[in-house]
This record gives sequence, C-alpha cells and structure tokens, in this order.
Amino acid sequence: MNSPRRSLLVTGGAGFIGANFVHHWCRLHPGDSLVVLDALTYAGNRMSLAMLESAAGFEFVHGDIADQALVVDLLTRHGVDTVVNFAAESHVDRSIIGPDKFIETNIVGTHNLLKACRQVWLQEGRAAAHRFHHVSTDEVFGSLGPSDPAFHEDTPYAPNSPYAASKAASDHLVRAYAHTFGLQVTTTNCSNNYGPYHFPEKLIPLVIVNILEGKPLPIYGDGQNVRDWLFVTDHCRAIELTLERGRAGETYNVGGCAERAPPPPPPPLCRIADDAFVGDEALRQRFPRCPSAAGRTADSLITFVADRPGHDRRYAIDSRKIERELGFVPGVSFEDGLAATFRWYLDHEPWWRSVMDGSYRSWITRQYASTV
Ligand code: NAD
Ligand code: TYD
Repeated sequence: MNSPRRSLLVTGGAGFIGANFVHHWCRLHPGDSLVVLDALTYAGNRMSLAMLESAAGFEFVHGDIADQALVVDLLTRHGVDTVVNFAAESHVDRSIIGPDKFIETNIVGTHNLLKACRQVWLQEGRAAAHRFHHVSTDEVFGSLGPSDPAFHEDTPYAPNSPYAASKAASDHLVRAYAHTFGLQVTTTNCSNNYGPYHFPEKLIPLVIVNILEGKPLPIYGDGQNVRDWLFVTDHCRAIELTLERGRAGETYNVGGCAERAPPPPPPPLCRIADDAFVGDEALRQRFPRCPSAAGRTADSLITFVADRPGHDRRYAIDSRKIERELGFVPGVSFEDGLAATFRWYLDHEPWWRSVMDGSYRSWITRQYASTV
C-alpha cells in the first residue's frame, strides 16, 4: 500500500477485534508507529499481542481511555495522527447485569478521547492531518422483523440493550465533535464478528470451547435470533479502507452477508468438530470429554436456556455504501470462517485456557447457573 506513514493510537487493541486489527496493521504497514492503550479488562488479553511486544514502532500501554492526562500525553509524545477507538465494554449480557461500567467506558471514556484529540489536534495544532475512527456496532439500530429491510446508514437509532444504548451515545458524541468542533471523524457500524482471539463468553468461541470440554451449548430462547456474521479480518480490512479512503464525517455500515440464527441443530460448528475428531487419535486424547471423541455427535450438547431479557430478534446490514465508495466486500464465507476459527482454537489452547481465569469462571457460573 502507498499510504502515508501514520502514527496510530489503537484503544482496546488487546481485545478481540482490536488485537486482530493491530496484527493486520503491523503486517501491512510496517513503517507506521502504533501504540495500543488497553485497560486489560479480561485476564490474558495481553497474550494476544505477545508476539508484537518487541516489534519496532510498537508500544503497549496499560491504561484507561478515561484517563485524560494519559491520553493527552500519548497523543503528544507519539505524534499520533490517527486514533482507532475499539475500547469498550462489549458484552450485551454483562450490560444487562451491570450497566454502569458501560456508561463509564463507552460514553464517558469515548468522550474523554474526543476531548483529548480536540485539545491536541485542534487547539494545540499538533497534527497536520488527523483522523478519529470510531468502531461501532449494528446494535445501535435496534431489532428487525423477519422481512424488514436491512439496516442502512440512515436507519434511525433505536438501541435496546444498555450496551447498544451506550454505543449509540458514543456514536452521537463522535458526530457532535465533528459537527461542532471540526474533528475529522469516521464511524463504522459493524455486524457480529467472529474469529481468533474472541473471548469465550460470546456465542461462537463459547460453543467451540464447550464442545471441546463436553459442556452444554446454551442457546437462548427458541434459538432463532438472527445475526449477520463477519469474519474478523474482513472487519479489519473494512476499517483499514475507511482510514485510507473513507470520507471524514461519514459513517459506513459493515456486514458479512451471512445472516444466521445461532447454530440450529445440527449446528455447523458441531459438524466441524465431529469431522475433526474422525480418525484423529491425538485430538481424542487431548479432549476426551468432547462427545465427538467418544463417537457421539457434538450437537448432543445443545441445551435451550432462558432467553436474554430484551433479546434483539434480528440484525441485518445493508453494506452497499462501503462496497460502492470504498470497494469493500467480505472475503471469507461463513463456512470457511467457522472452520478456520475452530482450527485456531485447536491450535491456541494455551490462549483460551489463560483467558478462562477465576473471573471468567464466576461469570459463567452466574450466567448459566441452571446449565453448568
Ligand atoms: P472486547 O471486549 O474483546 O475488547 C474490548 C477491549 O477494550 C478489551 O481489550 C478491554 O480491555 C478494552 N477496554 C475496556 N474498557 C477500557 C477502558 N476503559 N480503557 C481502555 N481499554 C478498555 O470487544 P470486541 O469484540 O473486540 O469489540 C471491540 C469494539 O468493536 C467495541 O467498541 C465493540 O462495541 C465493537 N464491535 C464489536 C463487534 C463484535 O461482534 N464483537 C461488532 C461490532 C462492533
Ligand atoms: P453474542 O455473541 O453475545 O453477540 P450479540 O448479543 O452482541 O449479538 O450472541 C450472539 C447471539 O447468540 C445472540 O442472539 C444471543 C445468542 N447467544 C446464545 O444463544 N447463547 C449464549 O450463550 C450467548 C452468549 C449468546
């Protein structure tokens, strides 16, 4: 790529999508400098960036986006011209049990970042050109009926969960800082991601880990809630294209063209697991509790549990704008992405074991009290 050298601050860069983005960016833009600011709210997250720790131009900072002095110092000291804001509390179920942290990080924290960028870039004039990119979600648009048209950039916001409401508020603040103060911003609203480094409390990694450990696969309600799934590296490419070619002040919807209910029986992940164990004695030895290791099928683990309060029925994304303006189309099909994700979890057992610490276990016990 012939893009100018950048100095990036990637907030939340140790999280699932952030870590994938950091790996993607460092691979494709080796001349850029990149600082990750992350509060490490999940044990083990730093491991996701371990192989970059000694890379030239890379620095990891353990801290909070709500720490104004720290953010101003990082922007100034590193001559940052590009902020990519992934930092957030991101789990809908946690936002139902404890919304306060979502307000603090997603709203107050994002506002703090905007204030710091305004100070350093606009008031002190420290960057000739700058960009604040905000990573948001399709959940701000609310829930669709079975035949409603997909969300597009002008769909009115109607967030339903505390998570979605906090992201919607942060989107509005980003827009307001552009409109009122002239900050150069872009926002992407993306559908559900999956892939490597995904914390195993979200559906797909939870299902993979539970299959391997022979634990119940909890499906909320009737299991017919529809999500549009995007392989995480495709999302990283969409953000990269937005930084390089996206128009300041614009929002772009990003989707995977892969609407699916949570795996209905026989779920594709169960089939992938069953196929992987056939004839693989080493795998059977490693994961003896997996039903596929004992000749049973993994879908025997599916357990329907109580529904999530206020569970959005359907999300779907109309991503024609980003395709038309920036040439983005997803490159990984849902089937290939799921197979690659399952293989990644097989190959990275130390990573997922390290993130499943005491606080993870107490979350699982609390959330799935009736099934585990
Ligand atoms: P994640 O929870 O895996 O990562 C979030 C990261 O932010 C974590 O590493 C966490 O430690 C960090 N963080 C939390 N609070 C912080 C704070 N106060 N200061 C600094 N760092 C903090 O989530 P994710 O799935 O990678 O999501 C990243 C972003 O993408 C979020 O903004 C989310 O809303 C958005 N998004 C996610 C999806 C999805 O399917 N996962 C889809 C669309 C948009
Ligand atoms: P999730 O991965 O939490 O993403 P989001 O709620 O942000 O879309 O959930 C994806 C879908 O899977 C959603 O419809 C809720 C459902 N789900 C389950 O059925 N069981 C589970 O244990 C989890 C975590 C999610």
